[in-house]
Amino acid sequence: MSKILSVNNLTVHFHTEAGIVRALEDVSFSIEEGEVLGLVGETGCGKSVTALSVMGLVPVPPGKILGGTIEFGGRNLLSLDSEEMRAMRGKDLAMIFQDPMSSLNPVFTAGFQVEEAIVAHEPGASGKSLLSRVIGLFKKVNISDPEQSVQKYPHMLSGGMKQRVMIAMGLSCGPKLIIADEPTTALDVSIQAQILTLIRRLQREGGSSVLLISHDLGVIAAMAQRVAVMYAGSIVECTSVGELFENPRHPYTKGLLGAIPRLDKDQTRLAVIPGTLPDLLNLPEGCKFRERCPEAIPICSSVSPRPQLIGPGHEVACHACFGN
Ligand SMILES: Nc1ncnc2c1ncn2[C@@H]1O[C@H](COP(=O)(O)OP(=O)(O)OP(=O)(O)O)[C@@H](O)[C@H]1O
Ligand SMILES: [Mg+2]
Repeated sequence: MSKILSVNNLTVHFHTEAGIVRALEDVSFSIEEGEVLGLVGETGCGKSVTALSVMGLVPVPPGKILGGTIEFGGRNLLSLDSEEMRAMRGKDLAMIFQDPMSSLNPVFTAGFQVEEAIVAHEPGASGKSLLSRVIGLFKKVNISDPEQSVQKYPHMLSGGMKQRVMIAMGLSCGPKLIIADEPTTALDVSIQAQILTLIRRLQREGGSSVLLISHDLGVIAAMAQRVAVMYAGSIVECTSVGELFENPRHPYTKGLLGAIPRLDKDQTRLAVIPGTLPDLLNLPEGCKFRERCPEAIPICSSVSPRPQLIGPGHEVACHACFGN
């Protein structure tokens, strides 16, 4: 397998009135062709900023990309100009956002908006053949009554149907990488499962790779082959899903897993990770997790741990795990 995306040492800050928000620090990960990589972590840890960076959608200012590379299809996306990046979006890279309502324009029909997405990359597409392509896409994402639905405005569609329209739009040009940022968080539980099943089917059929962002490890376990765990702007552990559940090494990952209710264990209370995410405006020296960490050792207060391979395909950034 070859890598479709390789993010190396990405550092992104936001310059705000309150100070500098260190949203991402030295983030590195990669995705293989046809692979689903899960990105998991607490709210505010930098998952969406990671996704927006790959899409070239970090608002600058206040955002500032301080360093790193994002290699995709043999090019560093960070070196492309806005025109080149726009050409890449929707064609090779697609993003499915958390809230379909705010991503669809209320004054245009669902069908028209998917047509526009196609025309943006294929200016010659028009007329009946364009409409039948959109109807075909609506069928592919299981939108009920596609011939009628193309004529509906977003407010006439349910939340699940709107998310399907967004997915149809994302798929319209056959992207190589789909970034799904909490694609089901705004939906009912039963609809969530349908949308996840749909994304997985489309990913398999189309052979695209997926970066699936979620704060829900259950969703990641069902969908992804590998998972990267993020904490306060850094990736602290990255390995296969099986290994993560069987042999979690970073104390934060262990905390996250302990916080999931399990039917196979005699558990009367859910574990809670004590404390809260550190203030990204004012990060402590050394390891960012150390103040909440039950395994912290002296070096953790002065030296920030860098990811190291501790087993086949298993990376972790933790001094206690390195045996320092
Ligand atoms: N435009 C912006 N201006 C200033 N700070 C920002 C901006 N966008 C993101 N941030 C900050 O960057 C940090 C990471 O945010 P991000 O949205 O990536 O978190 P997240 O992991 O996606 O959280 P959630 O699970 O809630 O979606 C947060 O501290 C956030 O406040
Ligand atoms: Mg987010």
